[in-house]
Amino acid sequence: MSGSQPKSRVEALLEQMTLDEKLGQLTMSAEAAAVTGPVAAGGIAEDIRRGAVGSLLNLYGASQVRERQRLAVEHSRLRIPLLIGLDIIHGYRTLFPVGLAEACLFDPQLWEQTAREAAREAAHDGVAMTFAPMLDVARDPRWGRSVEGPGEDPLVAMRLAQAKVRGFQGNDLAAADTLAAVAKHYCAYGAVTAGREYASADVSERSVLEVHLPAFAAAVAAGVTAVMPAFIDLGGVPLTAHQQMLRGWLRGRLGFDGVIISDYNSIGELLQHGVASDLTEAAALALRAGVDIDMMSNAYRRGLPAALERGLVDMPLIDAAVRRVLRLKEQLGLFDDPYRRGASTEAPAARLQRRSLARRVAARAIVLLTHRDEVLPLSARTRCLAVLGPLADAAGEMRGSWWAAADEQECVSVLAGLRAALPAARLLHAPGVPIEGPDDAGFDAALEACDSAEAIILCIGEAALMSGEAASRARLDLPGEQRRFAQAVLEHAASLRKPVIAVLFCGRPLVVPWLMEGADAVLAAWFLGSEAGNAIADVLLGRVSPSGRTAVTWARDVGQVPIFYAQRQGGRPPDPDNPDNHYCSRYIDVPIQPQFPFGHGLSYGRFVLSDLHISPAVLQQTDSLEVQVTLSNQGARAAEETVFLFIHDRVASVARPVLELKEWTRVELAAGDSRRVVLRVPAGALSFPGADMCPVFEPGEVEILVGPCADRARLLAGRVRLI
Ligand code: GLC
Repeated sequence: MSGSQPKSRVEALLEQMTLDEKLGQLTMSAEAAAVTGPVAAGGIAEDIRRGAVGSLLNLYGASQVRERQRLAVEHSRLRIPLLIGLDIIHGYRTLFPVGLAEACLFDPQLWEQTAREAAREAAHDGVAMTFAPMLDVARDPRWGRSVEGPGEDPLVAMRLAQAKVRGFQGNDLAAADTLAAVAKHYCAYGAVTAGREYASADVSERSVLEVHLPAFAAAVAAGVTAVMPAFIDLGGVPLTAHQQMLRGWLRGRLGFDGVIISDYNSIGELLQHGVASDLTEAAALALRAGVDIDMMSNAYRRGLPAALERGLVDMPLIDAAVRRVLRLKEQLGLFDDPYRRGASTEAPAARLQRRSLARRVAARAIVLLTHRDEVLPLSARTRCLAVLGPLADAAGEMRGSWWAAADEQECVSVLAGLRAALPAARLLHAPGVPIEGPDDAGFDAALEACDSAEAIILCIGEAALMSGEAASRARLDLPGEQRRFAQAVLEHAASLRKPVIAVLFCGRPLVVPWLMEGADAVLAAWFLGSEAGNAIADVLLGRVSPSGRTAVTWARDVGQVPIFYAQRQGGRPPDPDNPDNHYCSRYIDVPIQPQFPFGHGLSYGRFVLSDLHISPAVLQQTDSLEVQVTLSNQGARAAEETVFLFIHDRVASVARPVLELKEWTRVELAAGDSRRVVLRVPAGALSFPGADMCPVFEPGEVEILVGPCADRARLLAGRVRLI
């Protein structure tokens, strides 16, 4: 910096800061508005006054935030404003569907819009940062955090990343309605061994490169302000101390120069990982790896002074971290006006519009998994319904596992949604059994309710907290006595010749083949947020045709997981149609096919694809591939279809997955309508990491496959030749 230029605010502050004040800016302490980790902080007010803490999490409410901000800005020596963060994963006070459910929309515009709305709502309450988007690609539904993420596909994860960063951060990060986004959990957290929470991930470099990194690269390209390393170790090196992944890849190769925030207490937990013998070593490992903010372990404040003395770190390393934190606060406008977020309240109309968006998005997140005999949609003249199951009148459960500031009183249950949609109908409600536990005293009342009903709505599944953090499950069946209850209802309804529509609430695909067989329709309703009940009623009554497509492969048996469509076929590929082929990839006790493939989802239309055309026939790397297909709705109702474009590079220098998603589009068609659908893919998207992990665009034939899901039998196929 030349002598003539005035020092920047950040440099001027750095020069004045004591070591304790610098370490304070590298420390994030948890308040108690939410509990999201194993240790709690105390003495926060005094720490703020002393400049010993620079950020807070789990605090919201305009007045509460203002009170803490005032301590920093008016009572600390250097008056550096606080950064206030919260987990706004799928909404703040108005909840949208959980991450995995939103992924089923395959709609980047809506993904961005819900993040924009969540940012507006939270920033009006004083929050300036969200620990989202959660970008962990997951292919093992035993892992509880599958519910928060983008599903199994890296392209979906990339587009979610872009949309969410844009939505949260808006066009002006200093504006009063924006949040700093934090891409998390970097990376491969979704690959934990056996789906067990916090377990190690041992995945190949190729898998890291092709599956787990792309979403973070997309987030960085979209301008994400911060990244959070995962709790876990990747191949024995905890991500919190992973020099190669943080300094090498994230900052080096991806050029990320924002803030790296540790996960909750994860620097301190380097001792449990067995890579540090004390907090000093742990703090040095994390700082050297590039972690700037220590969330809730106190390792930086307690360990870095000794690390300096022992020569494990130096002051320039500390200054670089402090500089990034102060720069982020500057970007957020916190120095210009620390009270900007939370200074004004929202107009009531804004909250109403947000609720109607939540309802629209929730309806589109519903995946109609099975549907026979046209039992849906129900008639608006329905006079009597049995609304059964432990999730029928469970407004609080609709929130999912990260509900931020949402009040369960403001959530709509299935029962309430149906009551509002069918004011003249009799709704006979009986939970039958609790979500979990042995109590089956409610069976009889529930079965009795079927007798006078025209149809049965059976609301079953998991509690919200049976997925999310620290909620892996070894079994993927219905908890408690629900299976026995549901089978009793199915049997009784069959004797009455009445349809059963099952609404399945879950944070991951549940293994319930008997329900898929026995019910007349099954909807995956995940956890849909504040407007769950209204959205489910909209779909059940045909106001909205279901258009959700599952963003994860749905296992038929827990023994199949991890299960996903983009697998390499190996030297003895599966041969499920040829039972005489002994030496092929299979199980001897369970079919190899999933219950439902990635992208599966029915609608109230009936779609047919025809006339595939691919151009050009010969593709150079600078070209763009154009694929056309005719989509017809031969059903009796308007509906929306998602058309996926996959490729399969049959012969390449590295064995390639049997299907790779490269594009998709959504098309709404009236009954009887047809449309020529065009999908375009830049030829460069057909390159892949070669044997040396560097991108290659290899000459040769590539299959192009277009259709409604990752089931090759349902795809139209053609070829293109790369030169
Ligand atoms: C939790 C989660 C992380 C969250 C953080 C703060 O343990 O792992 O996703 O953002 O702590 O609540």
